[in-house]
Amino acid sequence: MQTLTQTLTKQAVPDSLSQLILRLADCSKDISQAVRHGALAGVLGATEQENVQGETQKKLDVITNDMLKDALKAEGNVRGLASEEEDYVVEVNKQGEFLVCFDPLDGSSNIDINSLVGTIFSILPAQDGELTEASFLQNGRQQLTAGYVLYGPSTMMALTTGQGTQLYTLNPDTNEFLLTDEAVNISKDTAEFAINMSNQRFWEAPMQTYISELLLGNIGPREKSFNMRWIAAMVGDVHRVLCRGGIFMYPTDNKNPEKPYKLRLMYEANPMALLVEQAGGKASTGYGDILDIAPEEIHQRVAVILGSANEVDACLSYHGLDYSNEPDIA
Ligand code: AHG
Ligand code: MN
Ligand code: MN
Repeated sequence: MQTLTQTLTKQAVPDSLSQLILRLADCSKDISQAVRHGALAGVLGATEQENVQGETQKKLDVITNDMLKDALKAEGNVRGLASEEEDYVVEVNKQGEFLVCFDPLDGSSNIDINSLVGTIFSILPAQDGELTEASFLQNGRQQLTAGYVLYGPSTMMALTTGQGTQLYTLNPDTNEFLLTDEAVNISKDTAEFAINMSNQRFWEAPMQTYISELLLGNIGPREKSFNMRWIAAMVGDVHRVLCRGGIFMYPTDNKNPEKPYKLRLMYEANPMALLVEQAGGKASTGYGDILDIAPEEIHQRVAVILGSANEVDACLSYHGLDYSNEPDIA
């Protein structure tokens, strides 16, 4: 089996980018260890701090953020970083060629129940001149690399450098990532969907109709029965989509009018959208491709509908309909 290093060489990924990817991979091995020790290392539970988004930080949110920051500071080629757990962008090295955006621990509400969590990252080219938030606000198609590491029964990494999407599995005996799927191919059709159903009454009309028709199964207009899954960690739900197809949604809702979207563009939606597109799937907000969004701020949130191409198209077809006579869902 090929190692990660061998695969990057085969893909002719430039040395500086390869080194950065390997640095992130090494750091994720340490995170995997920290996560695995759980209560034994006293890393479970919450801190008393909130992040800039008003979310209480879990101890592991802070620990993994510091681990990634330290790893990226030790890597000579990083110009700056942006993290879910950092209020502002962090300058790393004036000579650096790359910007890294990351969610150090996705699904952190799963930590205390020993369920799936992961790390999501996105690498962008650095621009000349002063480093500001604006340096990071590049369209998702500019990503040089996107990936995640899933800390599950096995630790796995999904990675794209723009040459398809690959899956690697961490060999616990040698602590090396080995290539276990060289070309992920998301099935075009699916009978599985993932959405937080408890938000149903808060969705827009197109999503209400789409999901209600999925739920009608083979006695409804879709003439097909669907199954539902919800891991509550995007990293786990997207991993399932990469492995066996499906549609994953975190759509617009009006539960809190100040926060109509949940997932963050720069370090959740964009990297996942690139991984999914590179595996033959689609990723949309309902009204356009996620990767075409012009970002406005590093912690910006967006609606996400991604996965099997035909099912994403089916969902989007409801968004083109005229709902002007529908009752307001508020
Ligand atoms: P994070 O733990 O990084 O804040 O992200 C959690 C996100 C995402 O991973 C997941 O899909 C979603 O929140 C789960 O939200 P619900 O609380 O609606 O299940
Ligand atoms: Mn997250
Ligand atoms: Mn997180």
